[in-house]
Amino acid sequence: MRYIPRMLPLRFSLRRRWRRALPLGAVSVLLPAVAAPAGGAAADPEAVERGAVIYRGGTCPVCHHWEGQGNRRGPDLTDDEWLHGDGSLTAVRRAIETGFRHGAGRRFAGKYEMWPLGGMDLDEVDVDALAAYVWSLHRRRRAAGTRTREVVSRIAFGGGADQDRSQPVWDTVLALRPQLVLMLGNSVLAETDDMVQLRRQYDKLAAKPGFAELRRQSRFLATWNDLDFGREDAGADFPRRAEAQQVFLDFWNEPHGSQRRRQSGVYTAQRFGPPGRRLQIILLDTRYDRGPLWRVSAEEAAERRPRGMGPYLPNDHARARMLSEEQWHWLREQLQQPADLRLVVTGIPFVMEFTGWESWANMPLERRRLLHLLRDTSAGGVLLLSGNAPWSDISRLDADFPYPLWDITTGSMNLRGVVIGPNRHRVGSSTREPNFGYMEIDWTEADPTIRIELRSIANRSLLRQSVRLSELQPK
Ligand code: HEC
Repeated sequence: MRYIPRMLPLRFSLRRRWRRALPLGAVSVLLPAVAAPAGGAAADPEAVERGAVIYRGGTCPVCHHWEGQGNRRGPDLTDDEWLHGDGSLTAVRRAIETGFRHGAGRRFAGKYEMWPLGGMDLDEVDVDALAAYVWSLHRRRRAAGTRTREVVSRIAFGGGADQDRSQPVWDTVLALRPQLVLMLGNSVLAETDDMVQLRRQYDKLAAKPGFAELRRQSRFLATWNDLDFGREDAGADFPRRAEAQQVFLDFWNEPHGSQRRRQSGVYTAQRFGPPGRRLQIILLDTRYDRGPLWRVSAEEAAERRPRGMGPYLPNDHARARMLSEEQWHWLREQLQQPADLRLVVTGIPFVMEFTGWESWANMPLERRRLLHLLRDTSAGGVLLLSGNAPWSDISRLDADFPYPLWDITTGSMNLRGVVIGPNRHRVGSSTREPNFGYMEIDWTEADPTIRIELRSIANRSLLRQSVRLSELQPK
C-alpha cells in the first residue's frame, strides 16, 4: 500500500521545547534510573550521560548499534553474555581500552577488529564515562527483562512512517508515556531488495531524536508490513525475505540466539502482568508466507477507483494462504496460554470488508480459519490491531464470532491516507489524517475498561471506542 505525502504543520514545536529544556548531556531526566553495580559502588549517573554522548557521537554505533544492541560487526553490549571479562565496570573499561585485534583471544565471529578505544582519541575521563555508559546498558536490559511482571496499562501503537520526512509523532507519543509501543509494520518505507539500502532506511529512523528517546523509555514490539518487508503488497514471492528478516530483527534488537531468528517470519508473542491483569501481545507475520493476491482487470480497477476501492479480488483457492502451517500451529499454542486481554497485531486489516485493498478478506478461507481458531481455543479478550490501509477505521464484526471482534486500523504516522473506501463493519467515521493508536486499560475496575483512541499528530482524538473486558468473552 502507498501513502500520499503531506507536509506536516510546522506549528508543532513540542520537540523543540523538549530540546531546549534538555541540553546535550542532560538526558538523565529521561533515562531510567541506573541500578548499582553488583559490587555496591554505583556508576556515576553524570558519567553515564557523558558516556552516552561520547558513544553516539563516536565510532561505537558502527559496530555495536545505537544502543549497544550489536550488529554483524560487533557484539551485543546489553545482554548478560560477556565475551571478555566478568561484566564488571573494570572489565568493560579494560575491553574499551585494549580493543580486540585479529589474532589471539577473538571470540566474536564478525570480520571487523575493534581498535583500542574504537580508534578514537579519548582521555581518561572520557574512557571512564564511556565504560560507565556501556556498563549501564547491560544493567538496564536486565531490569527490562524482569518487567514482564509489570502491569501494563498504557499502550501506543501505529505503523507507516516515512523515514525521509520529519516524524513529530514520536514527541506526541512520548508525552503519553506508554509502557509499550506496538509497531504494526511499515516502520520504514523501504521497498528494496538491497539489504544495504534497507539498513540505511532503518538508520534514518534510528536517527530521529524522538524515536530514539521513546525507544529508551518504552519497550517496543514490532512486526512488519509490505514496505519494510521489501516490496509493495509482497508476500512469499519476495526473494530476499530471509535476509530482510535478519535486518528487521537486528534493528528491533532481537537477541542473536533467539528462536525468532531461526523461524520463517517475524511472528512473536509476549505476556505481561500477573493473573487477573495479564496482557498478551501476539504479533502475526502476514507477509513471509502469504500466497499470491488476485487482481481485477485494469478496466475494473479504474472503475473501482472513484469508490475508493483497491484492485484485489478474493482468492478462495483452497491453498491460498496468509500464514504458514508453522505459524498457525504456533498461534494455536499462544491462544491457549492464559491471558485476560489479548492484543493480536496483524499487519493488514482483518475485519474490514470488502475494500479491494490488502486485507484478510482477500483470502476468505484463511480469514474463516482464524475465526474458527479463536472460537475453538475459546480465547477470550481478543482485540485486533492492524495497519496498512488507505484510511483509518474502527471496525466491529458481530456475526461469525462468539463476541464482538474489534479491529482498530491505524493510518500512517506522517502521511495522509489515500482515500476512504467502503467497509461494512465500520463503526462511526473514518479518518485520513496521519495518526497513531493509544490504549488505556483500567485494571483497577472489577470489569476493566479498555479505552482505545486514534490520535492525530497534534494529539487530538480522531476516533475512539471504549470496550469492557467482559464484552470480550465467549458466551
Ligand atoms: C570496527 C568495529 C568496532 C568498533 C568501532 C567498536 N567496537 Fe567494540 N567490539 C568490536 C568487536 C568485533 C568486538 C568483539 C571482539 C571479539 O571478541 O572478537 C568488540 C568488543 C567490545 C566490548 C567487549 C564486549 C564483550 O562481550 O566482552 C566492549 C565493551 C566494546 N567492544 C565497546 C566498544 C565501545 C565503547 C566502542 C566505541 C568507543 C567500540 N566498542 C567500538 C567491534 C568494534
